[in-house]
Amino acid sequence: IRQLLPRKATEPPVVFHWLPFIGSAVSYGNDPMNFFFECQKKYGNVFTFILFGRRVTVALGPKGNNFILGGKSVVFNAEDAYTHLTTPVFGKEVVYDVPNEVFMEQKKFVKVGLSTDNLKAYVGMIEEEVEGFLNHDPSFKVYQANDINEWGTFDVVKVMQEITILTASRTLQGKEVRGGLDKTFADLYNDLDNGFTPLNFLFPNLPLPSYRRRDIAHAKMSEFYVNIIKARRNGNNDHEHDMIAALMQQKYRSGRLLNDREIAHMMIALLMAGQHTSSATGSWTLLHLAANPAVAEALYQEQVTSFKGPDGKLRPLTYEELRSLPILDSVIRETLRMHPPIHSIMRYVRDDVAVPQSLAAPSENGTYIVPKGNYVLACPLVSQLDPSTWKDANEWDPSRWNDSEGVAAQAYKMYVDENGEKIDYGFGAVSKGTESPYQPFGAGKHRCIGEQFAYLQLGTLISTVIRELELRIDQVPEHNYHTMIVMPKTPRTISYRRRKFD
Ligand code: HEM
Repeated sequence: IRQLLPRKATEPPVVFHWLPFIGSAVSYGNDPMNFFFECQKKYGNVFTFILFGRRVTVALGPKGNNFILGGKSVVFNAEDAYTHLTTPVFGKEVVYDVPNEVFMEQKKFVKVGLSTDNLKAYVGMIEEEVEGFLNHDPSFKVYQANDINEWGTFDVVKVMQEITILTASRTLQGKEVRGGLDKTFADLYNDLDNGFTPLNFLFPNLPLPSYRRRDIAHAKMSEFYVNIIKARRNGNNDHEHDMIAALMQQKYRSGRLLNDREIAHMMIALLMAGQHTSSATGSWTLLHLAANPAVAEALYQEQVTSFKGPDGKLRPLTYEELRSLPILDSVIRETLRMHPPIHSIMRYVRDDVAVPQSLAAPSENGTYIVPKGNYVLACPLVSQLDPSTWKDANEWDPSRWNDSEGVAAQAYKMYVDENGEKIDYGFGAVSKGTESPYQPFGAGKHRCIGEQFAYLQLGTLISTVIRELELRIDQVPEHNYHTMIVMPKTPRTISYRRRKFD
């Protein structure tokens, strides 16, 4: 009803729309970037659009990101915005089903499972999984061919999704999950995933079979993890020091240990948080490398220079070395600049909030007020593609990250600045980076906790693939915005041939 009432003069401008309840849902849903850029031209950096009865106030540009991502959780609240989507999938008592302070403690626990020692151990495991996959998956049957010059093809998203789940389960998720990655697990995962869509976000309770299947899958998945934890508590020591092991030792400030359900649900949350984000980024990276053979060749030569052993073969990667490969680093950074998997970051507005005048204002001495009950939306991608910040903003050009005085390097420094404003989850302060024009992992309190793991997983995966294969594609596909995570549209078939026999 509120959206039918006239807008107060202090409220940000409302995007013109014909249909009252639906509002701008179609333009936003089909192409949010075009929608935001068009609205920015008409209304400036702050405006409100209607999305199935919700009023969503968008704040664009680095100052807009700072306004939303740097906001206090008592005012701009994440759990109110996301819980109806995430709790049926992740489960109760974790993430957005608990007050923010509790979730912040849980983030700290996850950080323990992502310690440098664990990350070091993961590199070899990921390399092994990727090589195993290339040698056995039917898409890579050219591996069995006698002629090294034979070309094959693969659907990059399908392959990246499989490799991501294999590598994440081998490392973070642990031995039992990797061992249980059979059809039953894949079906449960798919049912959960089909319950984690924009439709579920917009309409939490539809009487559709996919909603029911999501609930059944959640119950079974939760049981699957609880059984693993129980077996470990009963003395099963046949596992490495993975995330479950780390979480089983963690205590809240109150002194209480995490219980089995909480651990199970955190594991499901991590599975879902890392799967599409990493597989989408891996897919976009390989697509760009396939479309830019010169960059792929430079990346390959970086591997040769850094890892060629006395026997002429490329030796295994190590964690330390992986962190000091500038071409690999710039290829991932540039891909995340153009294709951050999450395009819209939402919060629910718990109390009226004044928009800083430097960001947008109705008049010289007026201030816009975002009213309680609205949602706010940050879109770092708008700043990451802003032509007034980035030269040739729509060109995928990893070399822009090489110039230590350039815009990209400065943006990155702001994002990770040691002296910038910090936030402390209890494991040491990290930069909030809320006003950087580069924020693929979000910023502020809710900043991604999987950033280092994702870099390691992607770095190892891309290095292993580029050591093995030459890639080609005529054109990088357009974005598909109809899924939660931005994916390349079909067809996304890459041609490849092997570099070497062994
Ligand atoms: C939060 C991006 C991989 C776990 C976020 C946010 C972004 C993001 C943009 C902020 C969301 C918000 O503010 O509402 C990415 C990208 C990834 C990636 C680009 C890979 C390329 C991962 C992985 C994990 C993970 C591998 C787990 C191991 C999380 C968690 C949060 C988060 C726990 C915290 C949410 C919060 O505090 O509200 N991620 N992510 N992410 N991510 Fe990631």
